[in-house]
Formats: sequence, C-alpha cells, structure tokens
Amino acid sequence: MLYKVLIFNFLGCLIFCSQSAYSLDIKDCGSYFSFDDIEVEGCEADYVACTLYIGHTLNISFTINTGTFNIDADLINDVVFIVSGGPKFNLTASPGNPCEVLTCPLDINYKATYEGYIYVDTKYQPLGNAYLQWIMETADEEEQLLCFQFPITLQYLD
Ligand SMILES: *[C@@H]1O[C@H](CO)[C@@H](O)[C@H](O)[C@H]1NC(C)=O
Ligand SMILES: *[C@@H]1O[C@H](CO)[C@@H](O)[C@H](O)[C@H]1NC(C)=O
Repeated sequence: MLYKVLIFNFLGCLIFCSQSAYSLDIKDCGSYFSFDDIEVEGCEADYVACTLYIGHTLNISFTINTGTFNIDADLINDVVFIVSGGPKFNLTASPGNPCEVLTCPLDINYKATYEGYIYVDTKYQPLGNAYLQWIMETADEEEQLLCFQFPITLQYLD
C-alpha cells in the first residue's frame, strides 16, 4: 500500500509538480455551482488522500460561486457520504443547513466561503481506497446543487 502511494506520488510529481504541488484528486460529481479552495483540516496540498479519524470531527471549508443559478430556498441540506467498494454511508455534517453560513436564498453570482465540520461516528471501521462525497441539495426536492469528491482513508487516532 505504502509502496503504491509512493509510486503514485512519484508519477504524479513527474506530471504535475512543475505546475502545482496539489495532488489531491478532487472531482466534480455533478454541480450547478462552481467550487474552489477546498481545505480539509490536516490534509496537506501534496497528499493523495485525506485522513479522517474515527470518533473525531474534521473541519472543511470551500468557496462556492452560484454563477447563473439562484436558489429560492432558506433550507439546503449538506449530505456527506463515504463511498468505497460496498454500500455508501453518510456522515453528519455541521451545519447541516449551509444557510447557517451562507446568505440564503442564494442569489446569482453569489460567492462565499462555507465552513463546517463532519463527525466520523465510532460505528465505522478503518477503511482505505474510499472517497468523501460532499453534496449540497435543496431540502424540499433534493435537487443536487453541488457535489465534489476526493480520496480519503478512515483510521483510528492512536
Ligand atoms: C475547526 O473549526 C472551529 C470553528 O468552527 C474552530 O474553532 C477550530 O479551531 C477548528 N479546528 C481546527 C483544527 O482548525
Ligand atoms: C443520512 O442520509 C439520510 C438521507 O439523506 C438522512 O435522513 C440522515 O439524516 C443522514 N444521516 C446523517 C448521519 O447525516
């Protein structure tokens, strides 16, 4: 495993290091809004996966830009999933309603920074090769406004 990660880093570096030290593979999984500057507590820019500790919280922040979309709702849900080989499971995000941090209803061309945290329940087991998927959706119709994902591992903090 460690060997693989090192090889990946080495190859990743050959390709990307001249432009950027960022190797965390962040993917858009279906967004109306654009997002940028994702910062995950304890996850350095050159990591290939972020570590989530079981039984602990983790701060996360990112900027959003609504672009041409305005959302006429005062209640939006943050839904956070861990996706691995098996069924995906969700984590508790706080605030669960991003409108506690953002100015809702969301206007067009609205740019803001979301700051929140997730809690990794102690019922979960250590896990590698997984993704964290962060979704913002309307509370009434569950329409997905934003979705991004990045590689993570779940570990015990010892
Ligand atoms: C996480 O965010 C909270 C505020 O939401 C802050 O008080 C705390 O210092 C942050 N922790 C870290 C490690 O950045
Ligand atoms: C998991 O997702 C379901 C459906 O979206 C939701 O009802 C539930 O509250 C979520 N659980 C947590 C811990 O966020």
